[in-house]
Amino acid sequence: RAAPPELQEKTLVLVKPDAVQRRLVGHVIQRFERRGFKLVAMKLLQVALPTQLPPPPLRVPCSRCHAECWEGGAKGGHPLGVPTVTLRCHQADRGLLDKHYQQLQQKPFYPALLAYMTSGPLVAMVWEGYNVVRSTRAMVGDTNSATAAAGTIRGDFSMHVSRNVVHASDSVETAQREIGFWFQRDELVAWESGDRDYTY
Ligand code: TYD
Repeated sequence: RAAPPELQEKTLVLVKPDAVQRRLVGHVIQRFERRGFKLVAMKLLQVALPTQLPPPPLRVPCSRCHAECWEGGAKGGHPLGVPTVTLRCHQADRGLLDKHYQQLQQKPFYPALLAYMTSGPLVAMVWEGYNVVRSTRAMVGDTNSATAAAGTIRGDFSMHVSRNVVHASDSVETAQREIGFWFQRDELVAWESGDRDYTY
């Protein structure tokens, strides 16, 4: 039984590199969850400029030997012969940002925006729910942090427009386009929460 169409509206949210570095990812997620929106896709992604070396893969300790067998590490392989677990950060080139910020490429701040958006991994997410595009924009606040209302994400966590913590799509049409830039179709997960009323 598919959810009614008005509950299937989707938007793209990016937790920008400054927010990842400031350990704000969980906080941002919590705000959208608390509102009742449904997380349907998420990934950590590093956008690299051609001049940048690819970032090192992120490594997670194996559950059996707890980091003893970091791939390529001093120990050189798992002592018990179990393969090392390697979690790779997704990577993309600047073409993705050029598409995402198509309208801004001629702006004087665009080079700085590119440098900022490639300064570390970001978290891309798709949120779903009733009027999610409009509500999310309201929760994110003004582009300019100086005029973003207190209580909004930018109003609470950001001082300057050039480090404004999050991105959220500005219309349903933009959201559909942006989700297509950042995610493959099969990266979106359809799931039911059981208590459908909760999402209204
Ligand atoms: P924009 O799409 O206008 O705003 P929003 O992110 O609220 O949809 O701008 C995209 C990003 O560009 C914005 O989040 C931060 C950056 N930016 C600047 O660095 N300086 C500026 O003067 C403006 C307008 C935007």
